[in-house]
Amino acid sequence: MLKKVPYNEAIARKYPEQVGWATCVDDAGNPNAIALGWVMCTSISPPMLAISVGLTRYSHELIDKAGEFVVAFPSEEMKDATMVVGTKSGRDGDKMAEAGVHLIPATVVKAPLVDDACANFECKVTGKLRTGDHTIFAGEVVASHVGPQGARRIYSIGGDPERLFSAVQPTD
Ligand SMILES: Cc1cc2nc3c(=O)[nH]c(=O)nc-3n(C[C@H](O)[C@H](O)[C@H](O)COP(=O)(O)O)c2cc1C
Repeated sequence: MLKKVPYNEAIARKYPEQVGWATCVDDAGNPNAIALGWVMCTSISPPMLAISVGLTRYSHELIDKAGEFVVAFPSEEMKDATMVVGTKSGRDGDKMAEAGVHLIPATVVKAPLVDDACANFECKVTGKLRTGDHTIFAGEVVASHVGPQGARRIYSIGGDPERLFSAVQPTD
């Protein structure tokens, strides 16, 4: 039997939620990254990914300016790093050094790839939509990269701070 409840109570039932990262760069090429629960595929041809980024995030400023980002799906080994990039702001210092991840140059965009991630997608922004206190950036995928087969993905079960767990990635 359904019960009408406040939004927060109902949306808590959507978990677990996949966790992604978006990497980006400032004008000088310094890297930043944001942890994202709100990332999705939006087109098959061309392949496209959309991310929803809070207006207050430093990454919002960088992605809006550069018109590019990389979506990376973190592996199990990146759980601690995900909490760093998902709770600290690049506006306050170099959180990428603190996260201790190995970034490598991408092939098309300036935003870096994340070496330990399960997969990376280089994206060029082709559209954006203001949705309340977030902007949805739609990105056309211009290059895709995978890490070792069978790496475990990270999911969130929400809460404050969000709690993370890893689950097996389907093999191909
Ligand atoms: C598991 C997890 C999921 C998150 N999902 C989102 C999201 O979808 N969109 C968003 O704007 N912030 C999200 N955040 C919060 C940002 O990652 C966080 O505010 C980050 O510190 C922003 O960094 P920046 O200021 O360097 O861009 C999430 C955080 C965590 C831990």
